[in-house]
Amino acid sequence: MCGIIGIVSRTEFPSRVLLERLKRLEYRGYDSYGLFDGRRLLKHVGGIRVEACGRTAAGIAHTRWATHGGVNERNAHPHLSCDGRIAVVHNGIIENYEELRRGLAAKGHRFASETDSEVIAHLLEDALRRGPLESALPRLFRELKGTFAILAMVRGRDEIFALKRDSPLVLGAADGRTVLASDIYAFSDWTGRAVFFENDEMAVVGPGGARFFDRSGRPLRKPARAFHWEQERSVRRTAGHFMLKEILEEPTAVGRLLFSLGHDQKPAFERLLRLIRRSRKVIFASCGTSYHASLLGAYYLHRTGMEVQTLIASEFRHFAKVDAETLVIAISQSGETMDVIDALKYARENGGRIASIVNVPHSTIQRMSELSLNILAGPEVCVASTKAFVNQATLLLAVARAFGFEVRLESLPDRIRALFMQKAKIRAMAGRIARSRDVYIIGRGLTYPVARETALKIKETSYIHAEGMMGGELKHGTIALIEKGTPVLSLINAGDPDIVSNTKEVEARGADIFILTNHPTLGGDRNAVHLKTANDGKFGILAAAAGQLIAYYAAAALGRPIDKPRNLAKSVTVK
Ligand code: M6R
Repeated sequence: MCGIIGIVSRTEFPSRVLLERLKRLEYRGYDSYGLFDGRRLLKHVGGIRVEACGRTAAGIAHTRWATHGGVNERNAHPHLSCDGRIAVVHNGIIENYEELRRGLAAKGHRFASETDSEVIAHLLEDALRRGPLESALPRLFRELKGTFAILAMVRGRDEIFALKRDSPLVLGAADGRTVLASDIYAFSDWTGRAVFFENDEMAVVGPGGARFFDRSGRPLRKPARAFHWEQERSVRRTAGHFMLKEILEEPTAVGRLLFSLGHDQKPAFERLLRLIRRSRKVIFASCGTSYHASLLGAYYLHRTGMEVQTLIASEFRHFAKVDAETLVIAISQSGETMDVIDALKYARENGGRIASIVNVPHSTIQRMSELSLNILAGPEVCVASTKAFVNQATLLLAVARAFGFEVRLESLPDRIRALFMQKAKIRAMAGRIARSRDVYIIGRGLTYPVARETALKIKETSYIHAEGMMGGELKHGTIALIEKGTPVLSLINAGDPDIVSNTKEVEARGADIFILTNHPTLGGDRNAVHLKTANDGKFGILAAAAGQLIAYYAAAALGRPIDKPRNLAKSVTVK
């Protein structure tokens, strides 16, 4: 995933505005970045630094998450054509780039990077040598295979050419400026209206506005749609990192979601229940943190007597059997995860119905769905997903409640606030866990997905090896790795005696035991935190929030770059 942005304005603006806007997309990629403003090309390795760099009436910029080619300024976007006239930024993957590259090299094109994206600049250069723009842009659609959101500029022209297939691209206009971006968050503080590109659509954006075309160059009418998307507040200053800021927003985010499910999203929520009831089979498709939320949701629904399959989206087509009576529910924070999109395409090809639960409104996954609910967590800037998990799980618990799971969800925001009162104790516990190279997190039933999620958070923020697993699986092999002093975090749901037995098994092997529990008599000592709730549905969510804090404080204790874990070397200006 990368982030792209382009701005065309009626009047000149400082080019650093491109960097400011790009910074809002930094969560999409953060190993290098660059901009082209019609004259200047800047490329840097590392996180985005907003710096003065002249004025322009049009420019494009890109923040990269490396896929093809290492992290260095040569591979950072924008990429230029041989004559340096054409600059291109790209999000997606060009599958046939090697073949295209060979063909272009045979015609004399010289490549400066190892990326797949650079072929686009050369292909466009080649096409523009052979004909006008009207035929050059459709040629890109014909020759490029793979996924792309492309912004291209020709040196000296205050115009941006935008093309989209399968990677997100959206346009917003405000105060004489037209903005093209990977998502609405890039400009949601400027305007509440946007035009969403569909596949194989393109636009030519000049100072007078945008003209849209289909892949063959036939004009299209595309109306702007209103969207509502919260602004990121300045809590960062008090919380220090987006990760902590976003964890601390959880009570508000849960409250907002619950209100919405009873009001504006009530009809959609009821439609989702009807769809689930009418489907012979329900499959959740998701990745990473969202997968763990789905797994928790499947547990909740299982308790009501329903069977829901939960699949990691990248493996979906290998394990899912989809037919017209199957409902696939995609769960995704961004709504743009390619593996999930591919799973939905597969579901569609096989006649399945598609619903989704997303955070980013109007995202691709939402638009692929016949019905979609918003989790309303608000912008999640930190790469480590936290409040989105909590709201995904809350929404799924609300679905389970509608099918008979007994839970008073309204008290959940207060329960999370009460957990935050124990931050100091959690922080001290995390500091002790952070001293080890490995940590094991065990759970059973509803705490199994939470164990996996906590392990994922610890791995990605603190770089400690963390394994989240079913307590019952320990004896089938992994217990061999538990020795004196190995930290094991046990998630003990009061209603489950088996996890207590599993905890004793590892304790007998000398493990350092840490506990998150709602058990009335556990949780007293310094390595245990008691989470106050008698309801196990809510306990799952509280334990996940506590696990997020453990991950955050462990990473902070180790001095890790929490918000952008993969940020690399210092910046270099190359041109
Ligand atoms: O946007 P999505 O929820 O579809 O993203 C899926 C995963 O990439 C994501 O949940 C990832 O695992 C988290 N950012 C990790 O914290």
